[in-house]
Amino acid sequence: MKPTSSKKLWKIGMKEYNTQYFDFNKDGDLIIKEGHNIYNVRYLAEKMGTPLQILMPFVIEERLEDFLDLNKELAKKIGYHGKFFYHYPMKVNQNKEVIMALVGDGAHLETSSYNDLYLIKKMLDAETFNPNIRILCNGPKTDKYLNLIDELQHKGTKVFPLIEGPNELKVLQHSRYDVGIRLAMKVKVNSRWNKPIDRFGFPAEEILAMDKFKNLKILHYHIGGQIETINDMLPPIKYALNVYFKLKEKNPSLDTLDIGGGMPIPFTRTKTYSIEKLMEKIFELLKSEADKRGVPHPNLICEWGSYMVYPAQITIYKVSDTKKINDKKAEGKKWYVIDGSFMNDLCDTWAIGQKWAMAPANNKNDKNLNEVWLAGSTCDSDDTYKGINGSVTLPDYDFDTQDPMYIVIFDTGGYQASLSMKHCLLSAPLKIIAENGHIVVARKRESPEDVGQKFGW
Ligand SMILES: Cc1ncc(COP(=O)(O)O)c(C=O)c1O
Repeated sequence: MKPTSSKKLWKIGMKEYNTQYFDFNKDGDLIIKEGHNIYNVRYLAEKMGTPLQILMPFVIEERLEDFLDLNKELAKKIGYHGKFFYHYPMKVNQNKEVIMALVGDGAHLETSSYNDLYLIKKMLDAETFNPNIRILCNGPKTDKYLNLIDELQHKGTKVFPLIEGPNELKVLQHSRYDVGIRLAMKVKVNSRWNKPIDRFGFPAEEILAMDKFKNLKILHYHIGGQIETINDMLPPIKYALNVYFKLKEKNPSLDTLDIGGGMPIPFTRTKTYSIEKLMEKIFELLKSEADKRGVPHPNLICEWGSYMVYPAQITIYKVSDTKKINDKKAEGKKWYVIDGSFMNDLCDTWAIGQKWAMAPANNKNDKNLNEVWLAGSTCDSDDTYKGINGSVTLPDYDFDTQDPMYIVIFDTGGYQASLSMKHCLLSAPLKIIAENGHIVVARKRESPEDVGQKFGW
């Protein structure tokens, strides 16, 4: 097979799929390119062992810088006078290396729990974060969470609790500090997470019937992740804008619309809309709706989480065995057994049928290809992955005659770490950081003692 065709087959080196950082070298090994720095994935897998996660903070930094630059340019071009703030939702990946890369490049944050906010406080106390960082607090507010919000606000940190329920409303409606409120959405869009009933926040009618707030700044909604078309992105914004303008009549301090997350990742390697086109449409919409009413352009907050971090990590497994699939419908296909687990390390495979793009980390020059199903190392019959279209195309692998074979799963930098499990007491993958030409071990491989401790041993 020619090199170009294998790049095409596995969609490597293509910006539209966020694989511009990858290539195959002449030996058929997958490499990561960070400017002039090159990391050989097969070599790292051999040296560090598998399962292995490679986190690439430079990918996050580049995505964020491009996004912030884009919004500056678009605001200028369109004549949009509101401010733009990017808030990274910590729930998507709380690893410190991810948060530090984002905050260092100008991201603000969004929390969902007391623990999230506690970690931010720790960084602020240690003077590791810029004190001008802005923090949105989502999620139900326990007393502990409310007290910490209050403590930080009292110290002058820009913290905005987003009110989600009646109990929070009682405490926060007349707060002397800034607050926001979450709108439950009536509009329906194509997203797995957009449920028939939005259980978060308050319906528009309830919000509009509320007494005046002391310091209402933000109207927020989040309608779901992986919103697949621009036509699904814009109607919720229009709906929320309408509520925003009405709410502002009673609460003139309101100046910001927060449209939550939802920008998709091309996991299945079919093209999605571009962020450039989407942001242009959003700014045009905000401007024209505000101009029509003769009110200032609202400030805009986006909380795209998946978009920023999923492409910044890959997961590598070694094929530990291969066998025939005993099923007529899978004639000619093989099982490749991996030395890790979809259920544990990539839990969404099991939970929501998440699809992943894959490529070989080595043996790519092998001309024989197989259609395979992957089997994880737990005892669970659900611990499998059958590809985007019914199978995964990988080089043929003869266990007896060939060097060990490694496979790479792309776009694993979101949600999977905090959702991960310990089925069959398998150890979590080793996590390394590739940046500035160096490799650093971020999380060492768990020993049986480490895993046992979690279960009282
Ligand atoms: C309030 C809120 N904001 C942002 C996000 C991030 O969404 P995404 O990763 O789809 O951008 C979520 C995800 O659940 C969320 O609940």
